[in-house]
Amino acid sequence: MEIAKRRGFFWPSFSLYGGESGFYDFGPVGTLLKDRFLRLFRQSYLREGGIFIDTPTVTPKRVFQASGHLEKFEDLAVKCSRCGRYDRIDSSLKKSGIARETTTLEDAISLIDEGKLICAYCGGKIVSAEMMSQMFRVERGKGYEPYYLRPETAQGIFVNFKLLLNQNRGKLPMIVCQYGKGYRNEISPRQALLRQREFFMAEVEVFLDPEAGWTRDPPEDVVLTLLQNSGNKLRASAKNAHESGVIANRGMAYFIYITYSILRKCGIPEDGIRFRQHRKSELAHYARDAWDAEAVIDDDWVEIVGIADRGDYDLRKHSDFSGEPLSAEGGAVPVVVEPAYGVDRITMAVLSSSYYVRENGFKVMRLAPEISPYIVAVLPLQIRDGLDAIARELFAKLMNLNDYVAYDESGSIGRRYARQDEIGTPYCITVDYQTKEDSTVTIRERDSTSQIRVKIDDLTGYPILQNTKLMKELSALSLSASKK
Ligand code: ATP
Ligand code: GLY
Repeated sequence: MEIAKRRGFFWPSFSLYGGESGFYDFGPVGTLLKDRFLRLFRQSYLREGGIFIDTPTVTPKRVFQASGHLEKFEDLAVKCSRCGRYDRIDSSLKKSGIARETTTLEDAISLIDEGKLICAYCGGKIVSAEMMSQMFRVERGKGYEPYYLRPETAQGIFVNFKLLLNQNRGKLPMIVCQYGKGYRNEISPRQALLRQREFFMAEVEVFLDPEAGWTRDPPEDVVLTLLQNSGNKLRASAKNAHESGVIANRGMAYFIYITYSILRKCGIPEDGIRFRQHRKSELAHYARDAWDAEAVIDDDWVEIVGIADRGDYDLRKHSDFSGEPLSAEGGAVPVVVEPAYGVDRITMAVLSSSYYVRENGFKVMRLAPEISPYIVAVLPLQIRDGLDAIARELFAKLMNLNDYVAYDESGSIGRRYARQDEIGTPYCITVDYQTKEDSTVTIRERDSTSQIRVKIDDLTGYPILQNTKLMKELSALSLSASKK
């Protein structure tokens, strides 16, 4: 958290006015990291044939009446007698040492009557419980119904189903993606980016013919950790998990695999990702089945992506409410599999799994080159004797080929390396006095801190990550460092 703020990944919003819980700003470096995640997301789904749209965050009431969010998108809240704060019941249950879950108001009230619940903030006695809507209302003016802020981007896709199907030339499967802000009036925002009132989502609705479903299998050699709602834990490929009935829906199995691939490309380690099936009582009002991708953040498993089997729930509801039939050619109402990525939680998972402290006390973000804010930084050893001019020219050339290049000339070279290590830049290119003699530069690999010398001309032919010879050499250095 200290590095996140100091180095510009993210920080609490509105601190000038004392701050506001549940809101965070992404700083200059965090904004780039998020952008790189979105590129990975886009590339992965474009490859699957996905199409992308962008719809409003402010939404008329009838959309959420139809989708059921107005009535059912709520959380169970408890109130403390001592500090007067409201909190989610799950926090209070944890604090009170009660292992079972409570999702009904009646159950919560009986626990309160037995005097068993205490406040997660102050340890005071919990005195009441109530259901609280997570929907944010926006006033529109006299005589008008209020608007609501979208709690998910998904409804913007469902209400456009007919237009989208037309865009997709009537074909199913149809994969529609949207990313942008989502808003939830969380009872007790906490843990930085993990539970905010405004956050960034990247969602995908896969519309399938109800008979044919999804027809492609995920590969067999990618093995995942799966936790069924029966408590059974297993390691299996998504394909085998589907064939053996663990994952009921083949589309679900396929997009669990796609999700795993994206998270791995972000550099989250294999043993830091698992998929957990929802218990029946946990399912959202629209879901028949759901699996969460969970990652380790601060020693806890946290949901970072929710993958839901929404069946034909949304299209049928919107069809009923709007009076328009929402079906594919032949009249069948498509069924939907939905991977919903929480970009903020993924950012937290990426950062927390990358952070380590060297023996000398220096801090490092071991970010994968596919997600780091910068792939490479160009540094002149000195800002004199023409070294800075050569470095600037190299920076400009690299920028023509790579989007994520930093240029830094301020402070000693050691401090600049330390800065790049903390923001996770995998490679630093230094222009030194030898550059003037033979047009070579050094490349320093972050994890080993070892350097190799290469010709400038060999760097500017194509994007750094596509320079296979160079990348091989550099990743060998990184690998030897991680073994140590
Ligand atoms: P939780 O049970 O932790 O409240 P959820 O089940 O409500 O999460 P989903 O509705 O599945 O979450 O939302 C999809 C994704 O959006 C989540 O996996 C998560 O990454 C992200 N997300 C949800 N709520 C928040 C929030 N308040 N702040 C940040 N990210 C969130
Ligand atoms: N659209 C899925 C979700 O909000 O969880």
